[in-house]
Amino acid sequence: MTDPQDAIDAESTSRAAERDPRIRERTAGERQEGIPFIGAGPGDPGLLTVTGKELVEAADLVVHAGSLVNSELLEEYCADAEQVSSIGKDLEELVPLMRDAYEAGRTVVRLHSGDPAIYGAALEQMDALEHEGVPTYIVPGVTAAFAASATLRTQLTLNGVANHVAFTRPRGKTLDPEDDHVGEFVEMGDVTTCIYLGTHAVAETMDRLLDDGHDPETPVTVVYHASWPDEAVIEGTIGTIGERLEAAGYRASALVIIGDAARKAGYERSYLYGDWANRDSTESEADD
Ligand SMILES: C[S@@+](CC[C@H](N)C(=O)[O-])C[C@H]1O[C@@H](n2cnc3c(N)ncnc32)[C@H](O)[C@@H]1O
Repeated sequence: MTDPQDAIDAESTSRAAERDPRIRERTAGERQEGIPFIGAGPGDPGLLTVTGKELVEAADLVVHAGSLVNSELLEEYCADAEQVSSIGKDLEELVPLMRDAYEAGRTVVRLHSGDPAIYGAALEQMDALEHEGVPTYIVPGVTAAFAASATLRTQLTLNGVANHVAFTRPRGKTLDPEDDHVGEFVEMGDVTTCIYLGTHAVAETMDRLLDDGHDPETPVTVVYHASWPDEAVIEGTIGTIGERLEAAGYRASALVIIGDAARKAGYERSYLYGDWANRDSTESEADD
């Protein structure tokens, strides 16, 4: 097997020279040749897409993201398939595992939590497989932030409150302090900041925001295991959430939302069902 980094570099170089022709030929959601990288959604088996479910049901080998994928989903949709957790496996192990099974004529799917495009490290596996001659494609899923907003019965964008959404993560083993932009998003004021991979670091992140002069009353909402049976919501502010989360004892698998949108307060009716609804519909397209 080619060294994964060399495979990634080679695939990047070839893409720089010529756009992947499949981008024009195939639409997202279309069944394709190769190994699908499927977004399993946030946890509830019902939040897997129809296409994802059908592909998982038909699989002989399901390589999944361990505890991030609800075992209920695996039991419900692929109890008879061989199931392998990717946790603790490097590319050197994962890529030959999937390649060999695919080349042996088995139906292989790769199941990521949420959507593979968000903190999923899917592309490096796809590039390494493609370099080995195994085609791949993506079947999108419901990312944790969307499940959390549904849990909170709100919108991440809310007229008069939040015009933007940031999907981000805090500094840590894989992110240098200078690449941590949580404070900048909060500073903008009208951004709903969704922090992935930061449950264990909430207290430190909030302390940094306080040190940088952010308003301690800014709302922070933590949604643990959105859509799972043990889902939990902890509400607080930049000043209080660290202690509250510590008391609740969650150290992983939660989404941290900073901003007023999580509280649904203070928003205004939108133009869509106001002035826009009453104007000539040929003027321009309205957003949903
Ligand atoms: C490696 S990332 C994968 C994210 C995933 N690809 C997605 O789109 O949701 C794992 C992080 O996603 C968040 N996460 C995943 N599932 C979640 C859920 N059901 N509820 C809350 N947060 C979740 C947590 O912040 C967790 O640390």
